[in-house]
Amino acid sequence: MNTHSLYFPYMLLFFITLLQVAAFEEGDRAALQAFKSMISHDPQGILNSWNDSRHFCEWEGITCGRRHRRVTALNMRSKALRGSLSPYIGNLSFLREINLENNTIQGEIPREFGRLLRLEALFLSNNSLAGKIPANLSYCSRLTVLALPYNKLVGRIPFEFVSLYKLKRLALHRNSLTGGIPPFLGNLSSLELLSLGANSFGGNIPDSLGQLKELEALGIGGNNLSGTIPHSIYNLSFVEIFSVPQNQLHGSLPTSLGLTFPNLKYFQIDQNFFSGSIPTSLSNASKLEVFQIGKNNFSGKLSVNFGSMKNLSFLNLYSSNLGSGESDEMGFINSLANCSKLRVLRLGGNQFRGALPHSIANMSNQLQILALSDNQLYGSIPSGIGNLVDLYLLEMEENQFTGAIPKELGKLLKLQGLDFSGNHLSGEIPSTLGNLSSLFQIFLNNNNLSGVGSGEAIIIFFGGLEFFKK
Ligand SMILES: *[C@@H]1O[C@H](CO)[C@@H](O)[C@H](O)[C@H]1NC(C)=O
Ligand SMILES: *[C@@H]1O[C@H](CO)[C@@H](O)[C@H](O)[C@H]1NC(C)=O
Ligand SMILES: *[C@@H]1O[C@H](CO)[C@@H](O)[C@H](O)[C@H]1NC(C)=O
Ligand SMILES: *[C@@H]1O[C@H](CO)[C@@H](O)[C@H](O)[C@H]1NC(C)=O
Ligand SMILES: *[C@@H]1O[C@H](CO)[C@@H](O)[C@H](O)[C@H]1NC(C)=O
Ligand SMILES: *[C@@H]1O[C@H](CO)[C@@H](O)[C@H](O)[C@H]1NC(C)=O
Ligand SMILES: *[C@@H]1O[C@H](CO)[C@@H](O)[C@H](O)[C@H]1NC(C)=O
Ligand SMILES: *[C@@H]1O[C@H](CO)[C@@H](O)[C@H](O)[C@H]1NC(C)=O
Ligand SMILES: *[C@@H]1O[C@H](CO)[C@@H](O)[C@H](O)[C@H]1NC(C)=O
Ligand SMILES: *[C@@H]1O[C@H](CO)[C@@H](O)[C@H](O)[C@H]1NC(C)=O
Ligand SMILES: *[C@@H]1O[C@H](CO)[C@@H](O)[C@H](O)[C@H]1NC(C)=O
Ligand SMILES: *[C@@H]1O[C@H](CO)[C@@H](O)[C@H](O)[C@H]1NC(C)=O
Repeated sequence: MNTHSLYFPYMLLFFITLLQVAAFEEGDRAALQAFKSMISHDPQGILNSWNDSRHFCEWEGITCGRRHRRVTALNMRSKALRGSLSPYIGNLSFLREINLENNTIQGEIPREFGRLLRLEALFLSNNSLAGKIPANLSYCSRLTVLALPYNKLVGRIPFEFVSLYKLKRLALHRNSLTGGIPPFLGNLSSLELLSLGANSFGGNIPDSLGQLKELEALGIGGNNLSGTIPHSIYNLSFVEIFSVPQNQLHGSLPTSLGLTFPNLKYFQIDQNFFSGSIPTSLSNASKLEVFQIGKNNFSGKLSVNFGSMKNLSFLNLYSSNLGSGESDEMGFINSLANCSKLRVLRLGGNQFRGALPHSIANMSNQLQILALSDNQLYGSIPSGIGNLVDLYLLEMEENQFTGAIPKELGKLLKLQGLDFSGNHLSGEIPSTLGNLSSLFQIFLNNNNLSGVGSGEAIIIFFGGLEFFKK
C-alpha cells in the first residue's frame, strides 16, 4: 500500500468540503444581497455597510456562527427600512433569529421562510405585512417565538401550526385575522404567552385553552368573542395577565378567582356582559396591579379588601352596575389606603350608596384621577381630599353630596378638571380655588352654591373665570 492512495481520497474529501462551505457561504451572501435589493428605503444608510469590502459576517445586523461562517441572526430592528421580504431569505438555512420589528416592510411573508428549519424566533411586529400567515412556517419546528403583531395580516391561524409544539410566545394582536380562536392552540403545551387581541376573531373561547398549563399571559380583547370563559382557564395558576376586554362575553366570575390566579397582575374584562358579584377571594390576589372591569353588568356589594395589593395602580369599576345599598358598602375605600401606588380610581356610573369614608384622605399621594360621578354618595366632601396632591381630575358630579366645598381643595395645585355639578352643595365657593392655576375646567352647576345658578356651568380657562349657559 503506498501512502499516496491513502492520502488522495482524504485530500479530495477535504477539497469537496471546502467547495461546499464556499458554496453555502456564497448562498448566504446571495440571500443577503437579495434581501438588500428589495429594501427600497434605508434612510439611515444601514445597508451601505453591506458591500464587498468586508465579509458578510461583519455587515451591520448580521451575526454568524463561530465555527462556520453562516448567518445565524438577522437583526434590523427599528431601522426605518421600507420594502418587502425576499424569498431568498429561505436559503439562510442556519438562521436562528430574524428580527425586523418596527420597520415598514410590506407585502407577504414569503412561504420560503418555512425552509428555515433552525429558526427559533421570528419578530416581524409593527410593519405593514399583508396577506395570510404562511402555513409553511409550521415547518420551522424549532420556533419558540412567533411575533407578528401590528401588521395587516388576514385569514385564519393556519391549522398546520399545531405542530409548533415548542412555541412559547405567539403574538398576533392588531391584525385583521378572522375565524375563531382555533381549539388546536390548546395542544401547544409550551405556550406562555398567547396574544390575539384587536383582530376580528368570532365564536367562543375554546375549552382546550385550559390545557395550557404554562400560560402566563392571555390577551384576546377587542375581538368579537361570545359565550363564557371556560372554567378550566381559571385554573391556570401561572397566569399574570388576563385580558379579554371589548368582546361579547358573559357569565359570572368564579368565587375562587383570587385563589386560583395567585399570580394575577392584570385583570381586564371591561366592556363585556359579565354579571354576578365580584369575588371576595380577589382580596388574596396580592400582586394585582391593574383591575379593569368597567361596562359590565355586575351586581351587589364590592367586598374586596385591596389592602394586600401593594402595587395596585389602576382600579376601574366604571359603569359596572355595582352597589347594594348596604350601609357599609363604601368600606373598601379604607383598604385602598395601603395601595400606595394607586394612580387611577374610577367608580363612576354605579349604584354605590353611602358616605365617602374620611379614609380617602389616606389614599396614595400618587393618585391622579378620582372619579366617583353618577352614584348615590351623600354626606360632606371629606376635607382630606386636599391631601391627594397629585390629582389632576376630580369628578364627583351627579351624587347627593351636601355641605360646603372644602377650602382644602386649594392644595390640589395640579388639578386640571373639577366637576361637582348635580349635588346639594351649599355655601360660598372657597376663594382658595383661585390658587389652582392648572385648572382648566370646573363645573359647579345644579347645586345650592351662592352665586351659581342651576343651569349654569363655570369654566375657568387658564385661571380666568368665564361663565356661560350649559
Ligand atoms: C462599505 O462598507 C464599509 C463598512 O463596512 C463602509 O465604511 C464603506 O463606506 C462602504 N462602502 C460604500 C461604497 O458604501
Ligand atoms: C421605531 O422605529 C423608529 C425609527 O423608524 C424609532 O424612531 C422608534 O423609536 C422605534 N420605536 C420603538 C418602540 O422602538
Ligand atoms: C435561493 O432561493 C431562491 C428563491 O427562493 C432560489 O431561486 C435560489 O435558487 C436559491 N439558491 C441559491 C443558492 O441562491
Ligand atoms: C411602530 O412604528 C411607528 C412608525 O415607524 C413608530 O412610530 C412606533 O413607535 C412603532 N411602535 C412600536 C411599538 O414599535
Ligand atoms: C414549504 O416548506 C417545505 C418544507 O420545508 C418545502 O419543501 C417547500 O418548498 C416550502 N414551500 C415553499 C413555497 O417554500
Ligand atoms: C391535541 O391533543 C390531543 C391529545 O392531547 C389529541 O387527541 C388531538 O388529536 C390533538 N389535536 C390535534 C389537532 O393534533
Ligand atoms: C360578531 O358576532 C356576531 C355573532 O356572535 C355576529 O352576528 C356579528 O356579525 C359579528 N360582528 C362582527 C363585526 O364581526
Ligand atoms: C380546577 O382545579 C381543581 C383542583 O385542582 C379541580 O378540582 C377542578 O376540577 C378544576 N376545575 C376545572 C374547571 O378544571
Ligand atoms: C385568603 O387566603 C387566606 C389564606 O391564605 C384565607 O384564610 C382567606 O380566607 C382568603 N380570603 C378570601 C377572601 O378568600
Ligand atoms: C411590587 O412590585 C415590586 C417591583 O416590581 C416587586 O418587587 C414586588 O414583589 C411587588 N409586590 C407585590 C405584592 O407583588
Ligand atoms: C343585567 O343583569 C340584570 C340582572 O342582574 C338583568 O336583569 C339585565 O337584563 C342584565 N342586562 C344586560 C344588558 O345583560
Ligand atoms: C395594610 O398593610 C399592612 C402591612 O403592610 C397590613 O398589616 C394591613 O392589614 C393592611 N391593611 C389592610 C386593610 O389590608
